[in-house]
Amino acid sequence: MANIHFLPDDKSFECPENITILKTAKENNIAHANACGGKGKCSTCRVLVLKGLENCNKPTEKEQKILDKLHAPAEMRLACQTTLSGDITLRRLVLNDEDIEFTSIMGKKDFGRLGESKTIAILFSDIRGFTSISEQLLPYDIVFLLNRYYSKMVNIIETNGGHIINYMGDGLMASFGINDEESFEIYAIKAAIEMLDAVDEMKPYIKTMYGHDFEIGIGIHLGEVVIGNIGAGKTSRLTLVGDAVNLASRIESANKEFNSSLLISEEHYKRVEEAVEVKDFVRTNLKGVKDRITLYEISGLKGAYTELQTEFVLEDNVRWYKCGEVPQLDEGAYKEIKIDDRNILLIKKLERIFAFEDKCPHMGLKLRGSKINDKGEIICKWHQTSFCVESGDVRNWCGNKIIQMMKNFEFAQNVINATEQTPLVVYKTKIDQGQLLVGITG
Ligand code: FES
Repeated sequence: MANIHFLPDDKSFECPENITILKTAKENNIAHANACGGKGKCSTCRVLVLKGLENCNKPTEKEQKILDKLHAPAEMRLACQTTLSGDITLRRLVLNDEDIEFTSIMGKKDFGRLGESKTIAILFSDIRGFTSISEQLLPYDIVFLLNRYYSKMVNIIETNGGHIINYMGDGLMASFGINDEESFEIYAIKAAIEMLDAVDEMKPYIKTMYGHDFEIGIGIHLGEVVIGNIGAGKTSRLTLVGDAVNLASRIESANKEFNSSLLISEEHYKRVEEAVEVKDFVRTNLKGVKDRITLYEISGLKGAYTELQTEFVLEDNVRWYKCGEVPQLDEGAYKEIKIDDRNILLIKKLERIFAFEDKCPHMGLKLRGSKINDKGEIICKWHQTSFCVESGDVRNWCGNKIIQMMKNFEFAQNVINATEQTPLVVYKTKIDQGQLLVGITG
């Protein structure tokens, strides 16, 4: 017969074979939380096994599914699903009603993360001199400019497997590797380089519109952090805690001093040495860091690494690309994303997110602003051609009267007929653990 030592109760009880920890607790009047009644649905019976983990049964499929979704450490078990073959010491993790309220996963779509320690890449970026730029802009312009800038940056970060952790006015913080993505250290650099390129593309527009130069600085550090969902109710969000976060922020700030755009720490450099082009390096003291450290200024990726494609998972000839958190779009609203060289338009309709190539097959015009009707068709806003949202097949070709009229002219007929009935490229979408995946076939 196994023995369980319960903490913080500091009491021990015998646990017969095939009897769960939860049942043993109940029979011995331990007030063990079990919001779902021991059905393996709420996770409030969670315990941390401090000694004797090897004496616990292997998690059942049901338990493992919940533990995986919570990113729970191996020592965490659901008491209602765990039986024993030997002695253990455990700590109950949910002790009162208040704990139950925020730990129960019943009815929650997104379970969040309970807290884990991991080595990841942390990226900070900041717009140079934005305070003085913003002093000369109207409030509307400030928000418009930041949103335009962020929509590009976020897309780049997410399609390279990163996660946005926080926005701080004109600065953002992102992480790479929280889900153990392969080569995340290199994807963090790739994202940073693409961000700088995107800013270069935006510069003429910003100069024309607002009369200002526009530069950003990026700092990346690879280090250990605690990752968890922190905050109450709807404000709970993924948060990183640890010195590595402060260091990444300081590295980003050092760009000003060294007149650079992309600096990375030595820890990060050692992991990407083979893949990056180094423009320069500096030895410096950073605020809050005891010793002098070396920072590397990165100018690009080397050879084959420049061809690095966005990561995907191949399933039945479909490449599923992770495109970040499901965008919070209003009904009918759209968002543009980029996967490698594809421009993709996401549109929300009836709680689903549809994805299309952002190019009408008729004239190659951008489809943003086109709507999906109740018959499951997307209507190209330019010439009113309607396409099935599932297959992309044409339902009604060129409803536009002018196009129909032009077909009477011989010179236009050939062009129009050549493209007639060309389907729209439609991509599959699915949602997995709060992440949007876009599937590209072939
Ligand atoms: S009591 Fe709900 S999961 Fe164990």
